[in-house]
Amino acid sequence: MILASSLMFIQCTSDPIPGTAGIDGIDGTNGLDGSDGLDGVGVQECVTCHSDSHRDAIYDAYAISNHAVGPDGSWAKGTSAGCAQCHNNEGFIDFQETGAVNPAGYAVSNPITCTGCHNTHRSFDFANDGNDYALRTLEPVTLIIDGTYTIDSKNASDLLGTSNTCVNCHQPRTAAPTPDVDGNAKIGSHFGPHHGPQSTMLEGLGGAVILGGSTSYPGAGTFSHKTEASCVACHMGAPATAEDGGHTWNTTENACLNCHTSEPESSDIKNASGVTLDELRVTLLALLQAKGTVDVDGNVIEGGTWPLKVVQATWNYAYLNEDRSNGIHNPEYALALVQNAIEAVQ
Ligand code: HEC
Ligand code: HEC
Ligand code: HEC
Ligand code: HEC
Ligand code: HEC
Ligand code: HEC
Repeated sequence: MILASSLMFIQCTSDPIPGTAGIDGIDGTNGLDGSDGLDGVGVQECVTCHSDSHRDAIYDAYAISNHAVGPDGSWAKGTSAGCAQCHNNEGFIDFQETGAVNPAGYAVSNPITCTGCHNTHRSFDFANDGNDYALRTLEPVTLIIDGTYTIDSKNASDLLGTSNTCVNCHQPRTAAPTPDVDGNAKIGSHFGPHHGPQSTMLEGLGGAVILGGSTSYPGAGTFSHKTEASCVACHMGAPATAEDGGHTWNTTENACLNCHTSEPESSDIKNASGVTLDELRVTLLALLQAKGTVDVDGNVIEGGTWPLKVVQATWNYAYLNEDRSNGIHNPEYALALVQNAIEAVQ
């Protein structure tokens, strides 16, 4: 110990004179390749989503979507407090963060954009928690038309429930008609569920249940487009063309091919006698025009009071129009709504 520690105090009294350089050593062996970072949480994995080249394609897709430019001008409606939660990026953010929009409304109304649907990641442990795409909300949605019913999109196609983002806005604002004391109902202004009832059609509720019809209504939430697919699976799947999938929100054939052998059409939806849903809807339209609740252009005539069944049939006609999937969201439910409506007004 003493000998060893004494060496520590040896000091050089003058600079050493260097000798000639020795010969180079032998090259070492190559090291192992590093991992590409795609399977762990690393810088590379973040860059797969957070690079300009990846984002450019998303901006291009978004730009052609109706979320960026609604042809109906509906994104201008969000200045009003009654419409802001679904028709204004800022209104949607306020509603998600605080449960309410600004009661005074908004000076400007902007289309839903990146910052509306996305904010920050809940976890960076993607391997265990999954990647939440930094979505602002994954929460199940309690319906505006029924505070006792909550839609949750979570299933094997959508493990975290990313489609719940969509349900917030794509839900009806008005419930199906109920009778007055005389058994009649009114066709008021803005009759119908409102233009975005897709989540309840997918679920199989929100239509007018006409009793005594020949076709039974399937149970709510039972159809496989709800239980095994989701808004995001069908509308944001891997693109098959430049104009579908991802952030265009146009349905892609690739999504259908997970379950169907080719992309089905609404003309594939038929009743037990082989009549297509499309044909049944034409029949219903003609019957309602004859009754006087729908005009020659196919628009509901507002302002009248009618027997409940007539109003219910008109409701279901409007519901299918406003869903705009031509029954594809829930073929059996759509068939039941239309067939029972036809019988009710025949
Ligand atoms: C599967 C895609 C994906 C991966 C992988 C990913 N992110 Fe994100 N992240 C997003 C999306 C989508 C957003 C919100 C929209 C945007 O900013 O592009 C976001 C937002 C963020 C934000 C907030 C941005 C802001 O402006 O405040 C941070 C911080 C972030 N990510 C960090 C990371 C880090 C760190 C990693 C890697 C550990 C990572 N992300 C991996 C998709 C991803
Ligand atoms: C902030 C409310 C809001 C959210 C959230 C939202 N949407 Fe929309 N979406 C709208 C509105 C409003 C329109 C109609 C814009 C217009 O045409 O004026 C629309 C349009 C669409 C369209 C195009 C319909 C057409 O006219 O061609 C599709 C498809 C769609 N949304 C699907 C989705 C999906 C899938 C999600 C979830 C990932 C989603 N939306 C989330 C409000 C929303
Ligand atoms: C709960 C969400 C929600 C609320 C609240 C809401 N809307 Fe909508 N609205 C939608 C969705 C979703 C669409 C698009 C549906 C689609 O493309 O199929 C839409 C579409 C529209 C359209 C375009 C459809 C057309 O063809 O005319 C107009 C106009 C519109 N809404 C007006 C309003 C007005 C005005 C208010 C307020 C009085 C309002 N909305 C409140 C969700 C909502
Ligand atoms: C209407 C809601 C909505 C809007 C608006 C939106 N996103 Fe997304 N985004 C989603 C959803 C939902 C997912 C998850 C898709 C999935 O689960 O496959 C997603 C996924 C992503 C991802 C990861 C998956 C991928 O395709 O790489 C990125 C990155 C992203 N968004 C960026 C953006 C950017 C940038 C914008 C603005 C141009 C934007 N998003 C606008 C809903 C939205
Ligand atoms: C099984 C696949 C599937 C699922 C799940 C699904 N959709 Fe659709 N959706 C379709 C198809 C197919 C159409 C008709 C597309 C067309 O006509 O171009 C459609 C039509 C629509 C439209 C009208 C689009 C237009 O161009 O007029 C909107 C809006 C929409 N869906 C939103 C949603 C929302 C929100 C959800 C979840 C609540 C959802 N969809 C779930 C397949 C699906
Ligand atoms: C998770 C599986 C699944 C996905 C994904 C899916 N479907 Fe279906 N679909 C079904 C099942 C199950 C039925 C009812 C049984 C049947 O007829 O095959 C059905 C029925 C239908 C029907 C009624 C007519 C028929 O062929 O029976 C149409 C139309 C339809 N789907 C369209 C689509 C479209 C369009 C897509 C893609 C955008 C799609 N589906 C994606 C499972 C799926």
